[in-house]
Amino acid sequence: MTSDHSTRASSATDAAAATDPAPAGATGAFPDGFLWGIASAANQIEGGFDEGGKGLSQADVIPFRTARDYVDISSLMKATDASIAEAVATPGTAGYPKRSASDHYHRWEADVELFAEAGLTAYRMSIAWSRIFPNGDDAEPNEEGLVFYERLFTRLRERGIEPVVTMSHYEMPLHLVTEYGGWANRDVIALFERYARTIVTRYRGLVRWWLTFNEINTTLIEPYTGGGVVEREAAPGVDPRQTSYQALHHQFVASARAVRIVHEVDPEARVGCMLARMAHYPASSDPADVVKAQFDNNMNFVHTDVQVRGDYSGTVRRFWRDQGIDVRMEPGDAAELAAGTVDFISFSYYMSLVSSVSPEKYGATGGNLFSTIKNPHLPTTEWGWHFDPEGLRYVLNGLWDRYQVPLFIVENGLGATDELVGQVTGEGDERVDTRAVHDPYRVDYFVQHLRQAREAVADGVELMGYTAWGGLDLVSASTSQMTKRYGIIYVDADDAGVGSYDRIRKDSFFWYQRLIETNGAVLDD
Ligand code: BG6
Repeated sequence: MTSDHSTRASSATDAAAATDPAPAGATGAFPDGFLWGIASAANQIEGGFDEGGKGLSQADVIPFRTARDYVDISSLMKATDASIAEAVATPGTAGYPKRSASDHYHRWEADVELFAEAGLTAYRMSIAWSRIFPNGDDAEPNEEGLVFYERLFTRLRERGIEPVVTMSHYEMPLHLVTEYGGWANRDVIALFERYARTIVTRYRGLVRWWLTFNEINTTLIEPYTGGGVVEREAAPGVDPRQTSYQALHHQFVASARAVRIVHEVDPEARVGCMLARMAHYPASSDPADVVKAQFDNNMNFVHTDVQVRGDYSGTVRRFWRDQGIDVRMEPGDAAELAAGTVDFISFSYYMSLVSSVSPEKYGATGGNLFSTIKNPHLPTTEWGWHFDPEGLRYVLNGLWDRYQVPLFIVENGLGATDELVGQVTGEGDERVDTRAVHDPYRVDYFVQHLRQAREAVADGVELMGYTAWGGLDLVSASTSQMTKRYGIIYVDADDAGVGSYDRIRKDSFFWYQRLIETNGAVLDD
């Protein structure tokens, strides 16, 4: 953190969960059966980008672009026709970090053993769509890709770890981007539906927890990352957001169909949506700022409104009218959205944001997917993100009050620079490995956020689980850095993909192990 943050110790609570199915556990203060895990995404962890029959994905063509000024994060995530053509013509992994990532594709068996050693009961991951349908519109799925995940899910279950699987996490087949125009093209809905049916059917009994689209709101923020929409100039007189909203609508319909497929194919399975929850605080008590913050929050809730309530809100419909945005919907769409609502809400929480009608009065700071007005009450991380554990309690209570469906924190964690100390000496029987990472700052991050999650549980929020982002160090979605480390397990590789790729347990790994063993009681130590 760039400034000290005092720990506000929460009062230990005997949490009284809101509903019978999720009572507080006997130990700790989290419900029995709470899913404790870590989270990842295929494009940020797997590597093996051109192996096993996999096609190129939209992530494989994003070059290493990092920023000195993390306020300007959006420029890092865009793709143009020219940047994609250059990437396609560039073989190998050099310069394209997501092509090698954490090399999990080759090391998954050892990685699962580490996950089991940490005591995880859940592992959130995604399936790379381009491993299953290399081009997205292939006549048949790629059996080698299906087998890869089948073996992984089977092994996870053998180790007592529930796979929590995102169908789409920023890794659409590139062919659908270049030849179809990404999610802006309605035809992609049917291709996704086929992909969803293929994986849900194949993994019936192996996967009980599904998420449809990671951070579905990203499509409005970063249309390429979220929706596979390449940056092009909008036609004269057309609001560029028109395409993003159209793409988002197609994703909502696709998500609703995927929900129905899960329910139909595997009645034991549950399916959730996934939102990057961007909580906006008013910059001042000026009612104009308060109303602006309310509007910004409601625009973030648009995504859960559709996926949980089954319809668009008045806020967004008015916004479209005011802005001249015309989202084309087919006659059956409204019924599909209403019929395909999710069983639970999963979300990422990294930071809070600030809204004002006069943003120029305030400075800016970096953020997850976009920058924000600086909140003077909050310290920031190395990457300029607000550090706001209490915001997690605010977010949990807000989502619960609004929707009354179970909640699942599937991303939360600290991107930080870690220092690897120690060394390896000798070989064979003489080999001594003293490598370690001392990361009390990461433990502190978890402690402070989880204490607030526990407060929310005591407030009556039905919380299903917590999967810390990273687990294994992985390549950053926005800055493509390996050295912006989120994991409890260090991956010995640098931003250029150079290193042994050895896995080294950080101090936070051992703390996380105790967190799970005690179902959260360690938070009182
Ligand atoms: C979330 C994404 O927005 O934030 C992840 O779902 C991402 O894919 C995570 O890695 C952290 O962001 P970043 O840009 O630091 O990797």
